[in-house]
Amino acid sequence: MSQRKILVTSALPYANGPLHMGHLVEYIQTDIWVRFQKLSGNLCTYVCADDAHGTAISLHAEKLGISPEESVARINVERLRDFGDFHVAFDNYHSTHSDENRRLSESIYLSLKANGHIVSRTIVQAYDPEKQMFLADRYIKGDCPKCGAQDQYGDNCEVCGATYSPTELNNARSAISGAAPVYKESEHFFFKLSDFADFLRQWTRSGAISTEIANKLAEWLDAGLQDWDISRDAPYFGFEIPGQPGKYFYVWLDAPIGYMAAFENLCQRRKDLDFDEYWHKDSQCEVHHFIGKDIVNFHCLFWPAMLHGANYRTPTRVNVHGYLTINGEKMSKSRGTFITARTYLEHLDPEYLRYYYAAKLSSRIDDLDLNTEDFVQRVNADLVGKVVNIASRNAGFIKKRFHGQLSANDGAPELTAQFQAAAEGIAGHYEGREFGKAMREIMALADKANAWIDEVKPWVLAREPDKTLLLHDVCSTGINLFRLLMIYLKPVLPAMALKVEAFLNVAPLTWQDSQTLLFNHPVNTFEPLMTRVEADKVAAMIDASKEVLASMEPTRQAPAWLEPVADEITFDDFARVDLRIARIVNAELVEGAGKLLRLTLDIGEPEPRNVFAGIKSAYAPEALVGKHTVMVANLAPRKMKFGVSEGMVLAAGPGGKELWILEPHEGAQPGMRVM
Ligand code: 2FM
Ligand code: ZN
Repeated sequence: MSQRKILVTSALPYANGPLHMGHLVEYIQTDIWVRFQKLSGNLCTYVCADDAHGTAISLHAEKLGISPEESVARINVERLRDFGDFHVAFDNYHSTHSDENRRLSESIYLSLKANGHIVSRTIVQAYDPEKQMFLADRYIKGDCPKCGAQDQYGDNCEVCGATYSPTELNNARSAISGAAPVYKESEHFFFKLSDFADFLRQWTRSGAISTEIANKLAEWLDAGLQDWDISRDAPYFGFEIPGQPGKYFYVWLDAPIGYMAAFENLCQRRKDLDFDEYWHKDSQCEVHHFIGKDIVNFHCLFWPAMLHGANYRTPTRVNVHGYLTINGEKMSKSRGTFITARTYLEHLDPEYLRYYYAAKLSSRIDDLDLNTEDFVQRVNADLVGKVVNIASRNAGFIKKRFHGQLSANDGAPELTAQFQAAAEGIAGHYEGREFGKAMREIMALADKANAWIDEVKPWVLAREPDKTLLLHDVCSTGINLFRLLMIYLKPVLPAMALKVEAFLNVAPLTWQDSQTLLFNHPVNTFEPLMTRVEADKVAAMIDASKEVLASMEPTRQAPAWLEPVADEITFDDFARVDLRIARIVNAELVEGAGKLLRLTLDIGEPEPRNVFAGIKSAYAPEALVGKHTVMVANLAPRKMKFGVSEGMVLAAGPGGKELWILEPHEGAQPGMRVM
């Protein structure tokens, strides 16, 4: 068959938080598919990028007190490390905040406009008068108009499930500044999706998406397509719309164009890849997107319509997967099942997860459940108990008795033929994203290999001097069967495959290699390939997730950028502040006070000071006792609901869990002045 040219993408992750187990379903699924294509000899290119634009990203950066560019860059470093450690191998990982993406977004927009698909309208929208920005529904909070529950988002109530518009909320306020929103007019630009209704009816039934998804979309198509608002007002982190100062492309306009931009960026350094060959209207190359079911409308309506309207090719296929549940439930911070990629890596081998996901993935959009007990059991039973076992049962004899040399004969020709014939079916499962079926077929072969070894009993043959030749053929066949299984598993277990190639003393295995066997071939010493998953490591990972995620929980406190910057003071003003080292003699909870701890401080005076400090979210009282900290000793006593506060301790951080009292070391003693 001729070589296919395939461009593959995974959804571009937002650059505002760490990768977690849910993300990994998609990246591992895509990576397995890509590796399978490459192994099969196709020219397959896998690109991705940070989805860098939009309000969520800029707010995240503001909270950290850095620019969005800096924040995106920091997250990018962590995330590339996570992807690499999970063996997710992109050919290029770019950013939507790039020159390529700006150029492509502008040119696609301009050609949609030139073709009459963009209109403008004035709309009325909530506006935060303090922060001076328009507010999307999710940045408005208030009391539910139906049940009265407080602190609900602008579009739906988490308590009673009601949906409504933010104008219906009682006590509405901006989730960003807390100010009451006002309503203001603004001109917005819309993409006329309805111009593409006929095209989309045809495209959704062209085989590019599953019937399951096409049926869902047909409901929307029948209901009539609405114009899509593609603009946002400044301040917005994104690309300004050409010719419209102060108006920016909505993040979802330039995000999918980021797929093209990431590829274009790669084409600049890969002579074998030509951007136009892949993207022009009649391209013979394939473009495959992998996405989660929550973003189907963007990829199966807006995106193909935009491409079509701007005279580009449309995707060959949009592959949609379901969500991850852990132990049957949504990932939850309090249960410790909101596990970041990094926390997983600190406890477990990434290939356990790659295998487990593969074993559970199908081409459908059903949710995938990671059951922690099943995870331990399945990985141990399949990979360690079945696959690796075949090699370890035979490799020792080859090394000890035959100087590491495989025999010249096939000891079980029918069995090896059966293994080789399985290549086609397994390839079909990989191609069709039926990885679960592929894994079951591979494990059924592993069972056969083990059953055969049980039958021929190399350990018995080894004790009979006249069976040496047979022993040699049997063990060599065992190794060959193992090799075939590893070829089939290579898309899923690339790191283990690498070790196996070293052991087998062969060049990187390809799918085609499944049609050959190794005879008269020297192999190397067998090193352990994979250890068993230990249940207590899984438990430790869950415990650690409770801690890590608790510290990431969004705090209800106002973000740092909302704190007013104090007016300038003179040196004399500063000199009037009496800063002292204080020893925390006692710390206790204050009944009825949400945030406060009562601290008893020794500052070297005869009487200890009583100070209320808003640091309960960050410190348990007992963690503070005995610590030295810095306090303002000459603050006028303040009468509070719970008693008089006689000073103030100094702490730093954005708030919530991330708050640290200043802790001087190196000999600072209670009462010392801080200068
Ligand atoms: O839903 C998300 O996480 C988006 N950042 C996905 C973008 S995919 C593509 F269109 F860029
Ligand atoms: Zn409600």
